[in-house]
Amino acid sequence: MAASATTRPASDSLGVVVEGLDLRGGVDDTLAASLRELFTQEYLLVFRDQDLSDADHLAVMEALGPVAWEGLPEKRAIGFVSNVRPDGTLGTSAASFHIDFGFFPEPYHAISLYGVEIPPRGTQTHFVNAVAAAAALPAELAARLDGVQARQAVDVTSPAGQAGVRVREGRLDETYPHMLRPVLWPHRVTGEEILGVWEQHTDALYAGDVEMDADESTALIEELYAFLYAPRFRYVHEWQEGDLVIWDNHAVQHGRPEVGDREARTLRRVCVGPEQDLSLFAGRRVT
Ligand SMILES: [Fe+2]
Repeated sequence: MAASATTRPASDSLGVVVEGLDLRGGVDDTLAASLRELFTQEYLLVFRDQDLSDADHLAVMEALGPVAWEGLPEKRAIGFVSNVRPDGTLGTSAASFHIDFGFFPEPYHAISLYGVEIPPRGTQTHFVNAVAAAAALPAELAARLDGVQARQAVDVTSPAGQAGVRVREGRLDETYPHMLRPVLWPHRVTGEEILGVWEQHTDALYAGDVEMDADESTALIEELYAFLYAPRFRYVHEWQEGDLVIWDNHAVQHGRPEVGDREARTLRRVCVGPEQDLSLFAGRRVT
């Protein structure tokens, strides 16, 4: 990190704010190594008061790994979460907590958003520290998760991001994208356990490879959500123009309330990680 840079906690629950660093003009090898180390330790980084071009933003994310291609039908590395841009995703919708592409084998590793247009009345993104939650699980509850897997599924026929979906209704067609992972999912780099259930996509729990009774499964998912989504594991980012927020898409979940359409809200998005097969979503909006 540059000698002038300092960090302070972004909240009691998650992340750090990095101060004294101007990210314009590229990232040299020393800074890239420092960013990777800090990101691995903290899982969420906030940089305020930046003035980043597309190229600047890409350079920061390239320091963390290969940038992911997004978009259909054209592949592009830059995307937008926006309620005004025709090429933006999400529109005005709320998004319940999720990780991006958790229903595929290897979801994006890191996601970043940069504040381009922020409503004068403010706007938020909500984050949840699923590593801290796993570490804090009561022993009795953790013991019940031994050998338990969660199924993450997506319904490709309806828009994602329905707000307030606490436990998904019903079971989805087996042909839809879905993925079974341990509920206590080891982080790909640190090995720390992640509490791997999220309200937008988790539709069933399995004991080993056997799907649990639906009522038993739902009751345990609800118990886990009550623990995971408590305020102690949340960080609410209050956006300002020029903010860059980068988070680990496995360790940290994200979501947001509805944003309305009276004030423009545009966040520029660059992700790091393996390419995802988006062909199933052609012509549909996904998060
Ligand atoms: Fe998302």
